[in-house]
Amino acid sequence: MAFPATRMRRNRVDDFTRRLVRETCLTTDHLIWPIFVCEGQNHHSAIKAMPGVARVSVDRLKAHLAEAVALGIPAIAIFPVTPEHLRDAVGSEAENPDNLICRAAREIKKHYPDLGIIGDVALDPYTDHGHDGLISGEEIVNDATLEVLARQAVNQARAGIDIIAPSDMMDGRVGVIRRALDQEGFQNTRIMSYAAKYASAFYGPFREALQSGGRLKGDKKTYQMDPANTDEALREVALDLEEGADMVMVKPGMPYLDIIHRVRTTFKVPLFAYQVSGEYAMLANAFEVGLLDREKTILESLIAFRRAGCHGVLTYFAVEAARILQKQK
Ligand code: PBG
Repeated sequence: MAFPATRMRRNRVDDFTRRLVRETCLTTDHLIWPIFVCEGQNHHSAIKAMPGVARVSVDRLKAHLAEAVALGIPAIAIFPVTPEHLRDAVGSEAENPDNLICRAAREIKKHYPDLGIIGDVALDPYTDHGHDGLISGEEIVNDATLEVLARQAVNQARAGIDIIAPSDMMDGRVGVIRRALDQEGFQNTRIMSYAAKYASAFYGPFREALQSGGRLKGDKKTYQMDPANTDEALREVALDLEEGADMVMVKPGMPYLDIIHRVRTTFKVPLFAYQVSGEYAMLANAFEVGLLDREKTILESLIAFRRAGCHGVLTYFAVEAARILQKQK
């Protein structure tokens, strides 16, 4: 018998065969686009650490989202840049029905009623200390924070936000938010919990985007997970599902593909990953100086999430990836 008996390369010999044996796919349906919204009129400002990503004012949202909608991106996630004077120790602005995220959501639903909107629930865009919960001395207090998060979630649901995404990592928040939503008549408002969210250095550019960079006192290690842990992620996911999460998320993304894979094989529930600001910054800056091929690298980074077990990915490349996918059709 000729050697080698098995030729793996036979199935790679031409494009049609490669397409036939492909195990996973990436389509526009798998993309969620995070956007930054700020105060002001006709405002559009670049974020230095994230070339190609901008903060836009509410009046520019219609134009800002037009291409995403035309390309068929199913959902966006809104992050508000809260002005300094509206931040306080308890994050009161989170409960204001006319806060930036609520105004943005209403504006988006007016123009694009079928576009899904995800609202981040955590206090850090609204606190003057930059933490996701209430503080007492050095401590980020868990149980007192839950009540505020529940009111923040209901406030967002009232503004038309479809999916509440608690990113605060307080214990018990999914259950408290679920009950509050149900009590207020929002049975169909979904919860996508940031179930396994790590205390990561990859969030650095996001803090610049929200202009919350220098504000944070200390770090988030008493509530976000230790990057060294795996089993703990499964416990976090199990608890969030028991408490009523409809979908779960792993964050960051690329350095945590092992976690994504374990969550998917263990729970078989709708699973998302967040390719966070630092991951975007690494790639976008490498593209800028010509170190990596832009289109190929974007698609490869995203198919990796699908292969690992994700249903979808939150990525700042969403619109660009959708554009590339459309071109390839
Ligand atoms: C807020 C939140 C953060 C991100 C999403 N929601 C920052 C943090 O936890 O410090 C990071 C997203 C990114 O880096 O792209 N709780």
